[in-house]
Amino acid sequence: MRIVAFNYRDIPNFPQSTVHGHAGRLVFGTLKGRPCVCMQGRFHLYEGYPIQKITMPMRIFKLLGVETVILTNAAGGLNQDYKVGDIMIIKDHLNMPGFAGNNPLAGPNDERFGVRFPCMSDAYDRELQQMALDVGSELGYSDFLREGVYCVLGGPSFETIAECRMLHKLGADAVGMSTVHEVIVARHCGMRVFALSLITNKAVMNYDSEEKANHEEVLQTGKQRAEQLERLVSTIVTRLEHN
Ligand code: 6GU
Repeated sequence: MRIVAFNYRDIPNFPQSTVHGHAGRLVFGTLKGRPCVCMQGRFHLYEGYPIQKITMPMRIFKLLGVETVILTNAAGGLNQDYKVGDIMIIKDHLNMPGFAGNNPLAGPNDERFGVRFPCMSDAYDRELQQMALDVGSELGYSDFLREGVYCVLGGPSFETIAECRMLHKLGADAVGMSTVHEVIVARHCGMRVFALSLITNKAVMNYDSEEKANHEEVLQTGKQRAEQLERLVSTIVTRLEHN
């Protein structure tokens, strides 16, 4: 496949990836004839960027004519039924930074993109969730495909045991440090959103546990499921209807 890639550092005003394991390139190409743009590496609150800057790529995608955004992330499993390596279709989110006023849409509303008070009860496209379940079943992934609620925190420190217990009680199935801000900005400007979490580790919920969350485990689980995630996402892309 022919691609054209731009380093983030060559794009004016674009943020830079600072996380180990996150390359910094915007890659354009086609997937079975469908034009796509991919972020190789994305931005997080804990990198210290203003929240509007983290989500700036979503508005660039809108201006480029993107209709559907697919987001993936690594997350800690809070749901006790989840195993490391499970892929969770995100059906809803808990925006903890948003509770504290840290929402990417805070500040003057740019009416060119969307309304002041956007609805979030339909943030995650139901049709695409069903399509992912169908594709997952066809690919033989049903044993490790889940549906759940993703909770975002600011990071970069992982959660304490008490925090994990609290989030679980609040209804979160997985916890991470990304995605939700991008979803909010993408929905604000009317793009369809589909999102997946790879459960890279189990969040520690017990005081007698010896387990500790660490970035190496996150990267390793990512590598192990990379091919299956790629197949799932690319199959979904090839089934998207052009609006
Ligand atoms: Cl356990 N927590 C958070 N906040 N982010 C993660 C994670 C855990 N595992 C992968 N990403």
